[in-house]
Amino acid sequence: MPQTPPDFATRRDVEGRRLESLLRRIYGDDPRLDRELAALLADVDAAWRQRPDALKILDRKRQGDPEWFESNRMLAGVCYVDRYAGTLRGLLEHVPYFRELGLTYLHLMPLFQAPSPNSDGGYAVSSYRHVDPALGTMDDLRATATELRDNGISLAVDFVFNHTSNEHAWAKGALAGDPAYDDFYWIYPDREMPDAFERTTREIFPEDHPGSFVPLPDGRWVWATFHTFQWDLNYGNPAVFRAMANEMLFLANQGVEILRMDAVAFIWKKLGTSCENLPEAHLLLQAFNAVCRIVAPGLLFLSEAIVHPDDVVEYMSPDECQLSYNPLQMALIWNSLATRDSRMLGQALATRHATPPGTAWVNYVRSHDDIGWTFADEDAALLGIDGTDHRSFLNRFYVDRFPGSFARGVAFQTNEKTGDSRIAGTTASLAGLEAGDEGAVRRILLAHSIALSTGGLPLIYLGDEVGQLNDYRYADEPGKRDDSRWVGRPRYPAGRYADRHDARTSAGAIYAGLRHLIALRSTHPVFAGGELVPFDTHDAQLLGYQQPGAGSASSPGSASSPCSVGLAVFANLADDMRTIESTTLSGLAALAPEWIDLVTGSVVDLTQGLRLGPQGFVWLVPAGSSV
Ligand code: GLC
Ligand code: GLC
Repeated sequence: MPQTPPDFATRRDVEGRRLESLLRRIYGDDPRLDRELAALLADVDAAWRQRPDALKILDRKRQGDPEWFESNRMLAGVCYVDRYAGTLRGLLEHVPYFRELGLTYLHLMPLFQAPSPNSDGGYAVSSYRHVDPALGTMDDLRATATELRDNGISLAVDFVFNHTSNEHAWAKGALAGDPAYDDFYWIYPDREMPDAFERTTREIFPEDHPGSFVPLPDGRWVWATFHTFQWDLNYGNPAVFRAMANEMLFLANQGVEILRMDAVAFIWKKLGTSCENLPEAHLLLQAFNAVCRIVAPGLLFLSEAIVHPDDVVEYMSPDECQLSYNPLQMALIWNSLATRDSRMLGQALATRHATPPGTAWVNYVRSHDDIGWTFADEDAALLGIDGTDHRSFLNRFYVDRFPGSFARGVAFQTNEKTGDSRIAGTTASLAGLEAGDEGAVRRILLAHSIALSTGGLPLIYLGDEVGQLNDYRYADEPGKRDDSRWVGRPRYPAGRYADRHDARTSAGAIYAGLRHLIALRSTHPVFAGGELVPFDTHDAQLLGYQQPGAGSASSPGSASSPCSVGLAVFANLADDMRTIESTTLSGLAALAPEWIDLVTGSVVDLTQGLRLGPQGFVWLVPAGSSV
């Protein structure tokens, strides 16, 4: 029996108490708390009154199907409005294409008012209530959300809540000495506290500025984890929590369905710690979540935590972030393409893929950001790999173009003091298309095949599905030239999109291959849910994993199949043909008499072993099953 979802009054009561208890844990006996909490609850009531009926209906639908985002039909895309379509209105002209591709979720990169020319790609927000006038208006954003939703696409936008731009009204107020904003940022009169904090914090953008603090014109110092013009908010002040909760509710009421919670690791600071991933960061996220559950119970949070894998998964819970980027899988896809060695990726799928019930990974090949090698040194050590040496190899492979490398990436934020670096580039350029490497198209398909066959929600950086190349013109663009991530954020690749149905072009080959995989995924429920079981291929260059089938309780959708394996995936990272021996496959062969490779549609006789071409892969399902 489906239960009636809790109504507003019930949520206000239950989640309101959760909110209060979370805030008391965070703020203890801070005398400001009672006043802020009372005001916040009044804000929540007002936001509910303003929530449009259409969104309240959607909320009820989501409440009735809380794991809707884990469906195999889900496919996410991401783009910059200006680069992809000019404006929000221009973006709507691409809706027929989004449907052609199969998108059900679209992340529009930050589109709010921001400083010019450098706004960190919009991640320095000056007002959440105003769309960047170059892109459109708040009315356009609402219309975009509605139009997308009418086409089965959920809108995601960023909630950049760790910091604001230095042009935000709160920042201007703080700088001018307005007592209302006194405590909104981490501002100190001299270097004493900045020095104390910086003894234990990491430098995130060392090419922009050293340390965590930057000087203000009046001689004071302000915390800026990222760029000098992105000032970290002080969540030690409950008024900041309330202020940002209001901005969040405002966005929710515009029709946004997913909030990408930017830079979650950094939101709480404590002297003597790294100021990353502190327990209060989780409590704050849960408190934001409680606020949302009252007013916009259908909304999801996506965690952006690009940190140690132990810490990444800590943000995932139905009460905190239901979704999280999977940066480990992303980085290890690139690792396995470079090394032709599947072991680190296989290890991650075996030991770090499971997520709490009611949560899912966003699996992706690359994002708008750099690729950092965020694997755990202790995991690498188990395979006899030295983490530091290996990261330096990967940076050289993807950037330095040493003989034998197919990649055309660029370095990002090299830290001269520590030797740390990350890399940036488009999927196609990193995979060899720019260098004219003959394995490039196969590598691009292989990389996406992993994101598409490991459960969760696959995310495509739009343009990558037609093989867009690096765009080096950022070097001439004001506000962009010092940030090499722009190499991987090209303008809409019109020519390549025009070629997408022409199989003789690389754009056409990539597009056809990806469309095929997307269609397979969306018609086979076995791809939903991310429960993976590793498969030992006895060859370091061959990756194997499987998803449970009907024999297991976890996939009720495939009841007609008697087989305990619903899907078996094998991929060859080597540059030559490889065979998985029949003895290695005998366990699978015993489970079902015949297997079908969904990708080619052909019957595979596992008793003969399995031959995989260079960068080739198969998606095997038991013949006759309705997975
Ligand atoms: C996130 C964004 C990145 C931005 C940073 C600061 O990591 O993905 O692009 O620079 O936050 O907002
Ligand atoms: C993120 C990460 C950092 C990443 C940056 C965006 O939040 O912590 O590693 O490179 O911000 O570029």
